[in-house]
Amino acid sequence: MEKILLCRVDDVYAGEILRVETDGLPPVAVYNLDGAFFATDDTCSHSQAWLSQGFIDGDIIECPLHGGCFEIKTGQPVEPPCTEPIRSYDLVVEDGAIYALVEP
Ligand code: FES
Repeated sequence: MEKILLCRVDDVYAGEILRVETDGLPPVAVYNLDGAFFATDDTCSHSQAWLSQGFIDGDIIECPLHGGCFEIKTGQPVEPPCTEPIRSYDLVVEDGAIYALVEP
């Protein structure tokens, strides 16, 4: 697995989402759910909207454009019009930094 630096833990406050643009990945949304970090694609699978501008409800992210929803931990769609999953990333936190684990 390759580790790709996304951000520092201090960059994402509890209950918030950070959009990260980094080499080697499409834009990523990093979520802080009460101190636990998760990451998904930032682009909604329904159309062109950024989930980092959406709304967290528990462990669900609601897209700001048409209100479709995904499970943050898995990327699975849970509310139409979203029917295609988004990618969710395995993360590792080391020395205050958050990395995505991806296949090289
Ligand atoms: S673009 Fe996200 S629900 Fe339509």
